[in-house]
Amino acid sequence: MEKEYLATGFRDVDGAQNQDAYFDCLTLLDSLPYYRKYKSRSYDLLELRPGQTVLEAGCGLGDDAFRMAERVMPGGKVIGVDASAAMIHKARSRDLAARLPVEFLVGDIKALPFANHSFARCRVDRVLQHIREPQRAIAELVRVLEPGGLLLAYDNDWGTFAIASDETETTRAIERRWRGSFANNGIGRDLPDYFRAAGLADAAIHPGTSVITDFETADKVYNLRATVQKAVEENLISASQGRAWIDEQIERSTKGSFSASLTAYTVVGKKRRGGAQTSGNCSSPSAVTRPRNAG
Ligand SMILES: C[S@@+](CC[C@H](N)C(=O)[O-])C[C@H]1O[C@@H](n2cnc3c(N)ncnc32)[C@H](O)[C@@H]1O
Repeated sequence: MEKEYLATGFRDVDGAQNQDAYFDCLTLLDSLPYYRKYKSRSYDLLELRPGQTVLEAGCGLGDDAFRMAERVMPGGKVIGVDASAAMIHKARSRDLAARLPVEFLVGDIKALPFANHSFARCRVDRVLQHIREPQRAIAELVRVLEPGGLLLAYDNDWGTFAIASDETETTRAIERRWRGSFANNGIGRDLPDYFRAAGLADAAIHPGTSVITDFETADKVYNLRATVQKAVEENLISASQGRAWIDEQIERSTKGSFSASLTAYTVVGKKRRGGAQTSGNCSSPSAVTRPRNAG
């Protein structure tokens, strides 16, 4: 089975050789305490109430859609949209899908199949890092949000990705190789700017840092071994540096001194009632807020 590279592969899960790698990654991340906590907090920040209709954009396996559905019952509903038909099939097959008010649809976040003002709340979690035109996606989410509704986005700032090591230069090369593979690796820090550019009011910023202290877990979600292999193939580091680095990390993990940290941002903004709002079909981002990578 071909080894999947998660930093790029989430753009097209349906085109992957081994889709289980993506399902397994999402299931593992969703089980980690840091993820459980920020996700739970995001539902609080969205002020979910019974009766609301909520969009979960880039819903993956549907975990957030299920948890939010419990908060909008009775009378409410959560619609999960994902570009991957395989993800949507998995989400629809979960037991909870039959018991909760949820619906799952295949769709592109940049061209959502909904009328203007369809949702009281929209949520998007670690999707924009994989999108080349994040501002188009944000404008589309604002379009489908009702006036006074809330948009919440959570995303990573890969410029903060840091692994503890005695080999500083090798480590920086490996971090850079991984980070550089994302379509949009600085999205976390850019979210507040993009929210303002989309005309959202009262953008509140909630940063959070995850720290993984086990090498095998970090390898599953950050593809450390595969990144070292790519860095060697591309002559960014030597084969012996790569081997020594992996050995060091495994030893650190055994001794309890392994650390892979990453800061991400949760940003919440409100769609204005009446007043100035940018158009939903924003096809040419302004120069001031053009997507940029964090290096
Ligand atoms: C890192 S996963 C996050 C999934 C989910 N939000 C979660 O927190 O578990 C990114 C998801 O975005 C989806 N995705 C990627 N590009 C997309 C697009 N253009 N429109 C909608 N979904 C997209 C992927 O298929 C994948 O399910």
